[in-house]
Amino acid sequence: MNLFKDKVAIVTGAASGIGQALCEELGRRGALVIVTDINSEGAEKVASAIQAHGGRATAREVDVSKEEDVQNIVERTVSEHGRLDFMFNNAGIDIGGELRDLRTEHWRRVIDINLWGVIYGSSAAYQVMVKQGYGHIVNTASMVGLFPLPMETAYVTAKHAVVGFSGSLYIEAAALGVHVSVICPDFVKSSFYKDSKHINVDEAQLISQIPDFVYVSPQRCALIALRGVARKKLIVTVGIFSKLLWGLYRYTPTFFLLGQRIYARRLRRLRIGP
Ligand SMILES: NC(=O)c1ccc[n+]([C@@H]2O[C@H](COP(=O)([O-])OP(=O)(O)OC[C@H]3O[C@@H](n4cnc5c(N)ncnc54)[C@H](O)[C@@H]3O)[C@@H](O)[C@H]2O)c1
Repeated sequence: MNLFKDKVAIVTGAASGIGQALCEELGRRGALVIVTDINSEGAEKVASAIQAHGGRATAREVDVSKEEDVQNIVERTVSEHGRLDFMFNNAGIDIGGELRDLRTEHWRRVIDINLWGVIYGSSAAYQVMVKQGYGHIVNTASMVGLFPLPMETAYVTAKHAVVGFSGSLYIEAAALGVHVSVICPDFVKSSFYKDSKHINVDEAQLISQIPDFVYVSPQRCALIALRGVARKKLIVTVGIFSKLLWGLYRYTPTFFLLGQRIYARRLRRLRIGP
């Protein structure tokens, strides 16, 4: 059975990468997709491509760090289409580096988009879905929402919060007919790494340390994510590293943290400055 046919779905951060692939796959499966991004031109392109392949999609500019933008898109979608079945809170950015180099503005930007964006999107959609008695909220976290990673404190904090938020809401929402999933990918080949910022770190070296074979494509990520959503799973890991490292952290945290300390020592060599 195609769970997504004729359903109404909003996707944030949908102009590129995982969000774009989710929109394309939802469009292929017959959903009506509201493609939203802070990059309105990119969102338009994604929506036009879905339409060109016979799907239904509309592009809207939404900055997830602005509560009114998120509230408006949810209200507008419901008033135009009469329902909201899926809310994919997917937009995210990374500003990494050692804590001693991160400033408050870096923290605010990461938390505003990666965490507040999810809270705004989930809260607005939840009001609608509780009234409807159905709906599914899907938040994109990361494998580092499941275990710690050095030199990424702001991003890891936000993603852990997204996992905790999603799990708590999953339990709370079940009795009201609303489902919640949280997607935890490892390495997805998108613009994410190019667009991320690392303060006082040699970024080219950092990115070149990730070998090409570890990446999954955004399309594969979307397929795995939608399979998990269809099965109403809470935590949907994407990629072998997400599953393995999460397992390692749960079963042998001491061993896991030892490995991370060795990794941190290697990363510190990429530090620029004193
Ligand atoms: N790529 C990976 O390896 C990876 C791994 C784990 C988790 N993730 C998470 O997946 C999600 C999508 O990442 P991606 O890999 O597709 O990256 P991406 O950079 O390709 O896409 C992110 C999209 O978010 C949009 N965006 C940025 N700020 C926004 C804002 N304030 N409001 C609305 N949209 C905004 C960007 O314009 C972009 O289109 C993010 O939450 C990211 O943290 C990515």
